[in-house]
Amino acid sequence: MTTPTDARVAVLGLGAMGRALAGAFLTAGHRTAVWNRTPGRAAELAARGALVADSAAGAATAAELVVVCLADHAAVRETLAPLGGALAGRTLVDLTSGSPPDARDTDDWARAHGVDHLSGVIMTTPPGIGTPEVLQLYAGPRPAFDTARPLLTALGEPLYLGADPALPSVYDTALLGLMWGTLTGWLHGAALLGAEGPGGGVTATAFTEVADRWLTTVRAFMRGYAPQVDAAHYPGDGFPLTLHSSTMDILAHASRLRGVAAEFPELLRELTGRAITAGHGEDSYARLVEFIRVP
Ligand SMILES: NC(=O)c1ccc[n+]([C@@H]2O[C@H](COP(=O)([O-])OP(=O)(O)OC[C@H]3O[C@@H](n4cnc5c(N)ncnc54)[C@H](OP(=O)(O)O)[C@@H]3O)[C@@H](O)[C@H]2O)c1
Repeated sequence: MTTPTDARVAVLGLGAMGRALAGAFLTAGHRTAVWNRTPGRAAELAARGALVADSAAGAATAAELVVVCLADHAAVRETLAPLGGALAGRTLVDLTSGSPPDARDTDDWARAHGVDHLSGVIMTTPPGIGTPEVLQLYAGPRPAFDTARPLLTALGEPLYLGADPALPSVYDTALLGLMWGTLTGWLHGAALLGAEGPGGGVTATAFTEVADRWLTTVRAFMRGYAPQVDAAHYPGDGFPLTLHSSTMDILAHASRLRGVAAEFPELLRELTGRAITAGHGEDSYARLVEFIRVP
């Protein structure tokens, strides 16, 4: 245990994610100071050259960039509070999962103590850290992001969302919603095809070969509909809501026939039905955003 100096980056919190973050900084060749509340979790990192501090302040004040990745926001508050002004002039990157108010709370603390604060999320599990595909999202002062960027590239390609510190946590949940919607549609299709025919049905692996190609079309729909959502204008595109609705009926019927749960297509059918009842049957699918927004 030491009080390190001259590190480029400090990582506070050596849980599964913190250890992966510190490991990626070391792999990129950055002098890295680390600290964990409970001692004894840094042995592997120390063997790779990490500077192990015996206090959060010791690690944080050794580095220009301080990355905090703890269990929750309460742990972040508890860890940062005693540091007070010791972090002034440094950049704090908070990768702890939390809500928008959590991010704003840390931002308020940072401003009050002269610290540049970047809130962030990394959309992967620890083994994904440091891979080029990893999606890492940041918000806060643009100059702070630009300064931190060369170090953050050790974790993957960083994306800047804007100044509002709440943005990463909202993106996080929105992207997880996209993932759940997509995966549920895929699993429903796998269940449906798996129940098809007397010979045991289509395997999920075979279905996925085709589904993967279909996602290219789904992506094209998203890109085409995004300007419609932004303009609140949903011109028909040859695939109106009335056609979506009747096809959803077929999917629900086919599911029931094969003993597959029909709640998923029925939920979609109910939402689409509301838009049609309101007189939008000839509009594009993007019109549904108006019925997802709660007035
Ligand atoms: N693991 C993932 O797949 C993943 C993916 C995306 C985001 N995240 C987010 O990353 C963060 C860390 O996750 P993790 O998987 O590393 O969790 P973890 O393995 O459970 O580690 C939790 C860390 O928080 C520390 N901690 C807890 N309470 C504390 C307190 N009051 N004061 C100081 N330190 C405290 C723990 O220290 P001790 O060792 O002393 O208990 C440990 O270092 C979470 O916000 C999580 O949601 C994780």
